[in-house]
Amino acid sequence: MSEFRVCESPGCNAASNLQCPTCVKLGIQGSYFCTQDCFKSSWKTHKLLHKLVQGKDETLTNNSSSVYDPWPYFKFTGKLRPFPQSSTRTVPLQIPRPDYADHFKGHPVSEQKEKNNHQIKVLNDEEIEEMRVACKLGREVLDEAAKALSVGVTTDEVDRIVHEACVERNCYPSPLNYYQFPKSCCTSINEVICHGIPDHRPLQDGDICNVDVTVYHRGFHGDLNETFYIGDVKDSGKKLVNVTWECLSKAMDIVKPGEKYREIGNIIQKHAQANNFSVVRSYCGHGINQLFHTAPSVPHYAKNKAIGIMKPGHCFTIEPMISEGSWRDEMWPDNWTAVTVDGMLSAQFEHTLLVTDDGVEVLTQRPGNPLPHFLSP
Ligand code: MF3
Ligand code: CO
Ligand code: CO
Repeated sequence: MSEFRVCESPGCNAASNLQCPTCVKLGIQGSYFCTQDCFKSSWKTHKLLHKLVQGKDETLTNNSSSVYDPWPYFKFTGKLRPFPQSSTRTVPLQIPRPDYADHFKGHPVSEQKEKNNHQIKVLNDEEIEEMRVACKLGREVLDEAAKALSVGVTTDEVDRIVHEACVERNCYPSPLNYYQFPKSCCTSINEVICHGIPDHRPLQDGDICNVDVTVYHRGFHGDLNETFYIGDVKDSGKKLVNVTWECLSKAMDIVKPGEKYREIGNIIQKHAQANNFSVVRSYCGHGINQLFHTAPSVPHYAKNKAIGIMKPGHCFTIEPMISEGSWRDEMWPDNWTAVTVDGMLSAQFEHTLLVTDDGVEVLTQRPGNPLPHFLSP
């Protein structure tokens, strides 16, 4: 860990140790500036953050009296609300970056070229070794985020830690600018199914929070996520998180050459349904290699029509999203945040897997411990 933060002032990446005193008073994390001059030049926009984050402490979730209300006509499905976001973080240009990093609309052109190709890439030994390295680094980054999670920490602070942990490891944080996603990881709280955008909302006692990390290292992506307990989570939430982990674990158990990709959904839905939970249908696991999302598409629900049979050298993710109530999702007006339509909880776990000659290698496994953080904190 570096002892200096990066200056908040847009475009300035200088090392900084001057913290905005108002932010310190208000409990807003981050807000480091390199010099008084940089602080002054940012003041006009920075001071808005103080207003926006105030008046939110009574409920961090209900916008009835909130200053920050970007979509006044939108009817939220649950209690969670968006908070202001910090400015865009940058990645040093010497770190290899995917094509979409510099596309003005964030289009992954190389990925889009393969859109109608259902052929699954068989990686050679060198490519497999690169995937092992990328996934190991992704795991280290998620473990850094895990250490930071606790009541009062903002998801923007988690994003900063993820971003800096990526850069320290010579990785580009894959989500950043992917179809213009504005941050370096996804943080999905409570009723958020996936693709939550890190912002200035402090984590609350009783939240469940998923952190989804993908890194791009020497041309290869490694993708994983875990759901975490924040403080004291009620038993119903703990049961959801536990069953969701079991769904991923049981699905990984059937991965081997000759298995059909469509069988994964049958295993997951059977276990979810046996526990009175539902399986999200709009978001799937995916092939992953030099491309972030590629063939195969891996639905998590039963009786799906996924194309393909597992072969040694295939890399793909399984990432079931399991909900307490309805399986249906809807999107916030930010066009990213997917939430449950009934506002009930949803949880997720994800690993990147390699099909081997006799089974599976879990490339994003925690070294020395196959269990997720919530089971072995
Ligand atoms: N990591 C997510 C996945 O598991 C994708 C996030 S894309 C982003 O596939 F743009 F939202 F970051
Ligand atoms: Co994924
Ligand atoms: Co992911």
